[in-house]
Amino acid sequence: MQFKMIQPDDCHLHVRSGAALKSIIGMTVAQMGRAIIMPNLNSPVTNATQARIYKEEILSVLPKGSKFNPLMVLYLTDNTTSKDIQEAIDSGVVAAKLYPVGVTTNSDGGVTNITKLYPTLESMQKLGMLLLMHGEVTRNEVDIFDREAVFIDEVLNQVVNNFPELKIVFEHITTKDAVDFVLTSHHKIAATITPHHLLANRNDMLVGGIKPHYFCLPVLKRKNPHQLALLYAATSGNTKFFLGTDSAPHAKTDKESACGCAGIFTAHCAIELYATAFERQNALDKLEGFASKFGADFYNLPHNTQTITLKKQDWVVPASYPFAHSDIVPFMATKTLGWKLI
Ligand code: NCD
Ligand code: ZN
Repeated sequence: MQFKMIQPDDCHLHVRSGAALKSIIGMTVAQMGRAIIMPNLNSPVTNATQARIYKEEILSVLPKGSKFNPLMVLYLTDNTTSKDIQEAIDSGVVAAKLYPVGVTTNSDGGVTNITKLYPTLESMQKLGMLLLMHGEVTRNEVDIFDREAVFIDEVLNQVVNNFPELKIVFEHITTKDAVDFVLTSHHKIAATITPHHLLANRNDMLVGGIKPHYFCLPVLKRKNPHQLALLYAATSGNTKFFLGTDSAPHAKTDKESACGCAGIFTAHCAIELYATAFERQNALDKLEGFASKFGADFYNLPHNTQTITLKKQDWVVPASYPFAHSDIVPFMATKTLGWKLI
């Protein structure tokens, strides 16, 4: 059995830079027409010039003849101005990303208090620039498993109420609270869902020994009700939920460490992972909308004109891939998957 679908877009992707970028970009290019490129480099992408330089770097390492289109994102800081937003828009940047300070990899320069940025959000609303949010609070007293739900109460509600015309993507949602929030909010609020949050829960990370390759942020939650709510949302056909892998490569040694980095690498077989999840829900007919239409529609982009073909075929995910000057352990390493991109 095999089926064709419109080529997907990855609406949340980390590709890094330099040697790391070179070693992994081909995997995304083989699957996706476009990707929304996350700006959390070691030196974050905080202005239009840096976005242009980063885009040029990505384009320069694409395989010959590739039509892959990296769509750039601005990293918001306490100092991002309306002028920065205007300049970013003028140079083709499609969105700006909120990282609460300290929330995840390379977020030290993130935003300390969103209300300080309200004038900038006002401009984004006026200019039609999307706001992408890493939706977790970072206060030490808030339990890591509750940080997304608390973010909805303390931050997201206020932003949505204060900026009713602002388009927001609640990134890599992980809880039923987030699903319910998106379902009950207006049409300018959407969310990305990762393949690992559909296929795994915190037991996969913690039962039988701690598994660093299942550690990401926001951290995997309980199966019931959270993973089940995400599966429901992704396969519902609701246009507010779309594909964003949050593939976040880190070298094997940086993951298998006393203080392992957050991030799960899924770019090697992103669409196969989603197909696996959708098939389990008996909803393969809903995959194309989620993967190839709803994200593009939300970003006001045309659908891709190419198609991809997925074949029902068992294959074993490699134990590792080369990554920069070392190697990386991919999600589902050594496990058998039932779908293959051909
Ligand atoms: C991401 C990374 O490594 O850049 N890590 C992760 O666990 N998802 C950053 C992020 O999106 O939080
Ligand atoms: Zn991310």
